[in-house]
Amino acid sequence: MRRPFISANWKMNKTIGETQAFLNEFLPLVRDVKDADIVIAPPFTSLPAAAALMKGSNVSLSSQDIFYEDKGAYTGEVAPGMLTDAGCTHVIIGHSERRQYFKETDEIINKKVKAALKHNLNVIFCIGESLEEREAGKMFDVLKREVEEGLKDIPSDHIVVAYEPIWAIGTGKTATTEQAQEAHKYIRERLAAIYGGAAANIRILYGGSVTPENIDALMACEDVDGALVGGASLKADSFSKLVKFKR
Ligand code: 13P
Repeated sequence: MRRPFISANWKMNKTIGETQAFLNEFLPLVRDVKDADIVIAPPFTSLPAAAALMKGSNVSLSSQDIFYEDKGAYTGEVAPGMLTDAGCTHVIIGHSERRQYFKETDEIINKKVKAALKHNLNVIFCIGESLEEREAGKMFDVLKREVEEGLKDIPSDHIVVAYEPIWAIGTGKTATTEQAQEAHKYIRERLAAIYGGAAANIRILYGGSVTPENIDALMACEDVDGALVGGASLKADSFSKLVKFKR
């Protein structure tokens, strides 16, 4: 049985003060949630303050990105050891916004995943097709390439996959449950081709306009094991409802 995994991705939102205010409201609301992993990924600047408030709680801290070198002349980058030092246990890698705006390739993403695992970070590995790719019938090819290249020579422990169709991110256009299940089933088959039976234990999250209103239906899909949430994770009330989804 795969344990549900619900993660917030705050993207470029919230100051340190706003992060603290969110957590002061959110942590008591979810204190009794025992049957799901809860993760929050604030911006880098908020990580130490979030770690201090999350200490001893049932919520884990993630960064939204990582660099693959340990240290050195890489202006603007953040090393894996700096993230663990700041209190992170998780890292999001390969988000479509990183691929699209910062030109991250499958090869760069693969290096980042390896670096994160070397530092004992749990990886939320993101994949997903654009609308053009879907309409051109290339969805399965894109997902196959992203899984095979991104996870090349990487063990499956400590990896959570997030399927985020780019056309569903921030648009209010959630994938239908049929579309989500179709993609998740395909991704699990690709994972099985690499990892064999262990693929049955890998959690696959759905991301893209997830809200408290649609999460129950998504979580009812056989291969949907959780959610990676942007907009609806920015308010404590809304994210706490997502964490308390019903199956
Ligand atoms: P939204 O939930 O705002 O659509 O964002 C999804 C996402 O990109 C999470 O990583």
